[in-house]
Amino acid sequence: AEPLRIALAGLGTVGTGVIRLIETNAELIARRAGRPIAITSVSARDRSKDRGVDLSPYAWEDDLTSMASRGDVDVVVELVGGSDGPALTLARNTIAGGKALVTANKAMVAHHGLELARRAEDAGVALKFEAAVAGGIPVIKGLSEGAAANAIDRVYGILNGTCNYILSTMEDTGRDFADVLSEAQMLGYAEADPTFDIEGVDAAHKLAILASIGFGARLDFASVDTAGISRILAADIAQAAALGFVIRLIGMAELESADGSCRLFQRVQPHLVPVDHPLAHVDGATNAVVAEGNFMGRLLFQGAGAGDGPTASAVVADIIDIARGEKGATFSMPVSELEEMPRAQSGHR
Ligand code: NDP
Ligand code: HSE
Repeated sequence: AEPLRIALAGLGTVGTGVIRLIETNAELIARRAGRPIAITSVSARDRSKDRGVDLSPYAWEDDLTSMASRGDVDVVVELVGGSDGPALTLARNTIAGGKALVTANKAMVAHHGLELARRAEDAGVALKFEAAVAGGIPVIKGLSEGAAANAIDRVYGILNGTCNYILSTMEDTGRDFADVLSEAQMLGYAEADPTFDIEGVDAAHKLAILASIGFGARLDFASVDTAGISRILAADIAQAAALGFVIRLIGMAELESADGSCRLFQRVQPHLVPVDHPLAHVDGATNAVVAEGNFMGRLLFQGAGAGDGPTASAVVADIIDIARGEKGATFSMPVSELEEMPRAQSGHR
């Protein structure tokens, strides 16, 4: 069978992880996808940087935003980051050029997801972003496919690996916040600008995406009530422990029915979690998402929420779906219906 040809934009933690995964598991991926997956071109800022992977088999593209116009590309994989700028230009160009787009960029999806989805629906191409929420956990597939028949009441969980790594490491070792944050950056968990992690913005991006998919609601990042962990001290963690709690950054989205209408509440904030609650045992860069539905009951998704291997795993799963012929955007409803819905409520219920 003809290979599915990939242009890879961004060669950092996730991009190099995708190269290693596609090279290591090439045979099994080809069998499962029904055709080989071939990276044809790559791009990043600095061509001369040693990235620990051999880039010589691939064409280098200087202008990342025009990768989709290459003749040897069926799918563009955007692993650059940033809600706007080159990532967004590349995404729009890709869809306009009739090519499929895979991205791990939750900031871009949270801000522009419905616009990109509408463009993808109109162009009849795939737009997929499993890696944008909870790294290696297939929670977008879980909600949009596995839970599709349910009315979802609540979706909540630990959505940022960096914060969870910081909180659980401070708890176990008593180490300093800044010191553990540097370690999370070194391990490839943190965003290029780590204030997105520690101020709760990254978790809010992910929560807005999950809420839209879980509830079939309009994607509304601006209405997420957001607080982070940057003001939490080792002393707060010790005090919580003395009272039988751990501190976790939790994102929560809930639907409330009142006066014949439904209102969506979304918030991200540090919570005191009792030590015997399942979320209290989620340590390191692990994420956990709980979804409650009217027929399925409570589902718990748990696994690595950040890092090269797990995130690459989610990216390549999307590429395999496209190789199998999947088209359209990964929302649980047509975009025209989502766009008509009311905005979420801001503030607490
Ligand atoms: P990195 O910062 O490690 O890599 C970003 C890559 O994009 C680098 O190769 C960089 O080039 C390139 N790049 C950045 N800006 C430009 C530009 N203006 N023009 C050309 N190339 C550019 O990021 P990650 O790999 O960690 O993350 C990539 C995406 O995946 C982000 O959207 C992130 O939010 C998301 N993500 C990350 C996860 C993780 O665990 N790290 C998990 C889930 C999602 P150069 O190397 O030359 O500087
Ligand atoms: N910076 C993010 C985190 C990467 O720490 O969770 C995974 O989305």
